[in-house]
Amino acid sequence: MGVTYFLLCCLSLAITAQAQDCSRPVGGPNMVLKDKDILLETFPDGTQVTFACEVGYISAGGSAISICQGGSWTPVRLKCERKNCGPIGEVENGNVDYPEGTEFGDRAVITCHDGFILVGKDKIYCQDKGWANRLPVCEVVSCDPPPAVADGTFKPVSESYSYRDVVQYSCQKGYTLNGSISASCSDDGTFQPAPPSCIMVRCSDPQVDNAELTEGSQRVYGYMATVTFKCKTGFMMTGANSQRCEINSQWSPPLSCKLITCKLPPTVENGSFSPNKTSYNYGEAVQYSCQKNYTLSGAKSVTCSDNGIFTPGPPTCILITCKLPPTIENGSFSPNKASYNYGEAVQYSCQKGYTLSGAKSVTCSDNGIFTPGPPTCILITCKLPPTIENGSFSPNKAFYNYGEAVQYSCQKGYTLSGAKSVTCSDNGIFTPGPPTCIRSTTPPTTTTTTTTTEPPTGNGETVKVMLIVLAVIGTSGICLLCAFCIYKKKRGSGRGGPDKEAPKSEEEVALS
Ligand SMILES: *[C@@H]1O[C@H](CO)[C@@H](O)[C@H](O)[C@H]1NC(C)=O
Ligand SMILES: *[C@@H]1O[C@H](CO)[C@@H](O)[C@H](O)[C@H]1NC(C)=O
Ligand SMILES: *[C@@H]1O[C@H](CO)[C@@H](O)[C@H](O)[C@H]1NC(C)=O
Ligand SMILES: *[C@@H]1O[C@H](CO)[C@@H](O)[C@H](O)[C@H]1NC(C)=O
Ligand SMILES: *[C@@H]1O[C@H](CO)[C@@H](O)[C@H](O)[C@H]1NC(C)=O
Ligand SMILES: *[C@@H]1O[C@H](CO)[C@@H](O)[C@H](O)[C@H]1NC(C)=O
Repeated sequence: MGVTYFLLCCLSLAITAQAQDCSRPVGGPNMVLKDKDILLETFPDGTQVTFACEVGYISAGGSAISICQGGSWTPVRLKCERKNCGPIGEVENGNVDYPEGTEFGDRAVITCHDGFILVGKDKIYCQDKGWANRLPVCEVVSCDPPPAVADGTFKPVSESYSYRDVVQYSCQKGYTLNGSISASCSDDGTFQPAPPSCIMVRCSDPQVDNAELTEGSQRVYGYMATVTFKCKTGFMMTGANSQRCEINSQWSPPLSCKLITCKLPPTVENGSFSPNKTSYNYGEAVQYSCQKNYTLSGAKSVTCSDNGIFTPGPPTCILITCKLPPTIENGSFSPNKASYNYGEAVQYSCQKGYTLSGAKSVTCSDNGIFTPGPPTCILITCKLPPTIENGSFSPNKAFYNYGEAVQYSCQKGYTLSGAKSVTCSDNGIFTPGPPTCIRSTTPPTTTTTTTTTEPPTGNGETVKVMLIVLAVIGTSGICLLCAFCIYKKKRGSGRGGPDKEAPKSEEEVALS
């Protein structure tokens, strides 16, 4: 810089060796124009100016003078160096540091060893004329007794305390210490931290809306007294259920009981509930019901209870099925399956000889039970068969079993028309219908003759008739024989025959 300046000056000097004014001269680094020159703007030829080092800088030799010659300044040889204050010295029981150095504007920082307190300035600056202040001193730390605490004391008690000595605080009975229980003599000659205070802690009778005290009831509530609350029916704790008497004579945390409400009750498959609302009050009930073909198992009604939960748990809807329908005596049912769906029907029927009494068809219904109840099979019996005119039946009984037959017969002179035998059948009726007895057209004698001439049958009655016929014929034969013998005798004695003939014809009529 200086060199360039010098060369430029020489050049201008060589070109213009004429009498010319100079403009304001520029010195080297860290230097300023001295005295009144500093105020001028132009300098006549031949003017001599003097430079000086800036504040904080000192001359390191060289001429400070420059002369205006032919419009330019002769070079300045002055050198300016920054002022160096050098070390400030030592501090007993302390240290001196120079974070930047010891030159102009730099600072010396003084610290005392632990247990020593600095008296004086802890920072000293290097100025134009050297260090600005004298060094401080490090004095041994000692503390005066700490301030007295109302309703409390500390120990040990002493006139003066050395560095790091500790005092312990305590409060009188019934008082609570608020703050640090101990303090120590610190660097600045005071006890730290600040002394505690002794406080008489008294909390008011605890009170929580919609709740009652369950534990911790006392006459007075001192520091740390704990009470537990329980919400009244229908209310629920929103947070903790116990609180403590804190140092500020206030209960903490605050407790609150909020009205219990329930959200929607649980849904049930194949079922529904009512009423359907977004929120239910405590104690409110909800009724469940199942869809058709489902039956409810569990509690039909649930109630909004503690903790906002419906109790008891929800029921379930179970598909209704029926097991086998009841069996009946002398009857059966169909179809026969392991399980029947809701609404499915079963048909009953009775064995032969039995008749069904009650519902023939039963249906799988609610509760898995077939309704109506099963029918019964009653043994079929018949009452007396119908009587017929001029005829009778046998056997004659109070009642007849199913399948039992009854024989009809007609009186003498009547002929049977229709089925001779009828059978006790379904519905207690004899089938087929009864026969009728029709008056015979042939006279009774003819009937007898017909009877006699009839070929013998295996029938006992016929045999009887035949025996009678044979007996009549036999007797007639004997009589005829006797009559013949008598006739012969009479003929022989000469008597009349017609007297004897009359009885014979009488006998014949009686016999027929
Ligand atoms: C307890 O000490 C702290 C800190 O010094 C203070 O803020 C508070 O108010 C004190 N409590 C009472 C109840 O005095
Ligand atoms: C019963 O619920 C089941 C499962 O949700 C479903 O598959 C079925 O269809 C329902 N039955 C009726 C009759 O709605
Ligand atoms: C209750 O009502 C809501 C809105 O109407 C409906 O979406 C929901 O299915 C209903 N629930 C029952 C169980 O009825
Ligand atoms: C009808 O039921 C009864 C009782 O079980 C039984 O003794 C009787 O033999 C049954 N009748 C027929 C024809 O099976
Ligand atoms: C109930 O069961 C019957 C018989 O199984 C069936 O026909 C009907 O569709 C069922 N109803 C419902 C609503 O599931
Ligand atoms: C036949 O029946 C009719 C009507 O009951 C009766 O009047 C008549 O006397 C009966 N005949 C004989 C021979 O019993």
